[in-house]
Amino acid sequence: MQILVTGGLGFIGSHTALLLKEAGHDVVIVDNLSNSKLDVLQRIKKISNVDYKFYKADVTDEAKMKEIFARNKFDGIIHFAGLKAVSESISKPLEYYYNNVVSTLCLIKCALEYNVERFVFSSSATVYGENDSPLKEDMKLGLTTNPYGETKVINEKILRDVSVAYPHMAISLLRYFNPIGAHPSGLLGEAPNGLPNNLMPFITQVASNKIKSLKVFGNDYETVDGTGVRDYIHVMDLAKGHIKALENIKIGVNVYNLGTGKGTSVLELINAFEKINNIKIPYEIVERRKGDVAACFADATKAYKELGWKAELTIEDMVRDAWNFEKDYK
Ligand SMILES: NC(=O)c1ccc[n+]([C@@H]2O[C@H](COP(=O)([O-])OP(=O)(O)OC[C@H]3O[C@@H](n4cnc5c(N)ncnc54)[C@H](O)[C@@H]3O)[C@@H](O)[C@H]2O)c1
Repeated sequence: MQILVTGGLGFIGSHTALLLKEAGHDVVIVDNLSNSKLDVLQRIKKISNVDYKFYKADVTDEAKMKEIFARNKFDGIIHFAGLKAVSESISKPLEYYYNNVVSTLCLIKCALEYNVERFVFSSSATVYGENDSPLKEDMKLGLTTNPYGETKVINEKILRDVSVAYPHMAISLLRYFNPIGAHPSGLLGEAPNGLPNNLMPFITQVASNKIKSLKVFGNDYETVDGTGVRDYIHVMDLAKGHIKALENIKIGVNVYNLGTGKGTSVLELINAFEKINNIKIPYEIVERRKGDVAACFADATKAYKELGWKAELTIEDMVRDAWNFEKDYK
C-alpha cells in the first residue's frame, strides 16, 4: 500500500515510517517541521537504505494537501501530525485547537475527495480522564483537563461522525499510553525542539547534563511509592502496532489501546534508568502537577485479540535505547 504519514518526521511517526517500509509499504511523509528536524529524514534513509518521498507542508493547508493527494495515489493515511505538549496547550489553546482539529478536517476532506478509505488516527490515553485503570476502550470518556486532551476527544468525535455519514470508511483510533525508548541503532529517538515535556526525555537530558535536575511532581499519590504510575511503551512496539492496525483495519470506527497493560512509577523508571545505564539522576520532589492522575495504564487485551499485537519490549529495553539515542545526539 502507499501510505501517507503526517507528522512522519516526529518521534512516533519516524519509527512507524521506517517499519512501514520494512513491511513492504510505500511511504509518503508530510511534516511542517514545527517539532522535528529535516535531519530525521536522512536518518531514516540511512537506517533503511531506501528513499522516502517527503513534502514539507502544513496539514492545515487544504490547498497544499489537495495538491499532494492529487500527485499520489494513497491507500491509507496515518495521521500523527499534531501539537502534543499538555502544559503549552493551556497557555496556547487556540493554536492547539486550530492545528489539531483543522488538520484532521483537512485530511478527512482530502481522503473523501480522493477515495482513500483507510484512516488511522493518533489518539491518547488522556481521553479517559480520571477513569480508574486499567482503562478499557469501551469506557465512557472522562473529563479532559487541558486543551490538548480535548483536541483528541474532538477528533475522535469528528471521525465517528464521518463514519456515520460515510460508512465505507475504515477508521482506527489508536489510544497511546506513554511511548518512550528509541530505535536500537541510536539514530532515531525523541528529540523535541525546545524543553522536553515528557518524563523520559527529561531524564535523558539530565543524564547528559543539558538540564540540572529532574522535577518529580508529587510523591503522595496512592501508588506503590507515592509517585505517578504510567504505562510506558517502547516506541518500536508502538510503531509495530500501527502496521497491525493498518493491515487489519475494518470498516467503521475501531478503537484500540496501545499500551503494555503494566504500570511503572516515576521512581521505578528513574531507578531502572540508573541501574541499566549506570548514571545517577538527581531529582527533587515538587508539588503535584494540576491535571495529573495517580495511575494510568491500559487494558491491552483488545489489540491482542483483534490485531494480534502486543508490546514485547521491557522497561530495561526502553531506558537503554532512550539513553543510547540521547548520548550521541547532536
Ligand atoms: N508522544 C506521546 O507521549 C503521545 C501520547 C499520546 C498521543 N500522542 C500523539 O501522537 C502523535 C505523534 O506524537 P509524537 O510524540 O511523535 O509527537 P512529535 O511532536 O514528535 O511529532 C509530531 C510531528 O507532527 C508535526 N506537525 C505538527 N503539526 C503539524 C501540521 N499542522 N502539519 C504538518 N506537520 C505537523 C511536527 O513537526 C512533528 O514532526 C501526536 O498526534 C500526539 O498527540 C503522542
